[in-house]
Amino acid sequence: MVRNLYIHIPFCSKICPYCSFYKEQINRNRIYAFLDALLMEAKKVCFQPEAVFFGGGTPTVLSCQQLDYLLRGLSTCLDLRRVKEWTVEMNPATVSAEKGRLLLDWGVNRISMGVQSWDPGLLAVLGREHTTDQSKRSYDILREVGFSNINLDLIFGIPGQGIEQWRDSLSKTVLLRPDHISAYCLTYKEDTEYFFRLMRGVYSQDVDKEAEFFEVTMNYLEEVGYCQYEISNYTSPGKECLHNLGYWRGEDYIGLGPSAFSTVGTLRWNNVADTVEYIKRMNTDGEAVHFRERLSPATLRTERVLLSLRTREGVPAHLLREHEERLQIFFELGLIEASGETIRLTRQGCLVADSVAEAFL
Ligand SMILES: C[S@@+](CC[C@H](N)C(=O)[O-])C[C@H]1O[C@@H](n2cnc3c(N)ncnc32)[C@H](O)[C@@H]1O
Ligand code: SF4
Repeated sequence: MVRNLYIHIPFCSKICPYCSFYKEQINRNRIYAFLDALLMEAKKVCFQPEAVFFGGGTPTVLSCQQLDYLLRGLSTCLDLRRVKEWTVEMNPATVSAEKGRLLLDWGVNRISMGVQSWDPGLLAVLGREHTTDQSKRSYDILREVGFSNINLDLIFGIPGQGIEQWRDSLSKTVLLRPDHISAYCLTYKEDTEYFFRLMRGVYSQDVDKEAEFFEVTMNYLEEVGYCQYEISNYTSPGKECLHNLGYWRGEDYIGLGPSAFSTVGTLRWNNVADTVEYIKRMNTDGEAVHFRERLSPATLRTERVLLSLRTREGVPAHLLREHEERLQIFFELGLIEASGETIRLTRQGCLVADSVAEAFL
């Protein structure tokens, strides 16, 4: 049974040089054609979602009128009675009380906001369009209008960032008491400006420093009461993100919008990563699938292992039966531990999670 729905809004007002998500600079002339195409695709959804996630891009770069148009349309073509969690991603530059109220009125009950850093200099390095004051103001607005479940995204390993600057960003975040914190290590993805800078030697990567940042994050956030339930995700009691949990547990999900992936049983498909093409295909063919595949049981099992290995829940032991020898070595090295019928990374193991995961490929 499918329970998870992802909706991709591919627009941003400014493109960040490190970001590899499918997005484009917002073109105000195309918005309604895009929203109509999205609603056309939503009409084909025939399950009752329990977790809805609006990601991007920046969904809230849409104006209040455009968001109202989208949410009104979705509420007529989807059965939203079973929704427990409805998340919308925001950039601090796109928050207003009016927008917050509108989202709440339509049933959105969780916000994920990209603060990234509380250091003005590092925000400039990241090419962010908002200031730290704006992040604080936007957070306060969201609380004032009534959101009781807010995640803040942070990034560490930013070029030039020192460990004290990172500690400072963490403690400023914690002072706000968000319900959930995602702390990502900066990745240099191909086709981003940051990747080209890395290739040209403008930037360099220091894996030891990244591990130190990560260790500081784990220690500090756990010390102040957040539970690390996935390598990059920390929660207050009961505020785990249902949408992400579903994904890590290998549950089925449907994704709408350009570039969105869907997985149902052994079938996986994704939509074209091109907004103009997406609109055209929805209007001519009634679908915009770019690629479909049937996943083998072995591929599904490997994916499941790799995703759940990053979580506190861990990997169901039966999925690792064929890796007995390696498991033994990791046990002896203190990198993994058994907990009931599951196997999970130890604190030490979290620091080298990618290497452990590679061994199970
Ligand atoms: C779609 S964005 C969130 C909403 C909004 N677009 C924003 O940037 O504020 C998802 C999150 O992914 C993280 N992210 C994006 N690119 C990243 C990268 N190259 N390395 C690490 N984290 C990244 C950021 O923390 C960002 O907030
Ligand atoms: S990080 Fe967020 S705001 Fe920046 S380009 Fe990516 S999706 Fe857009």
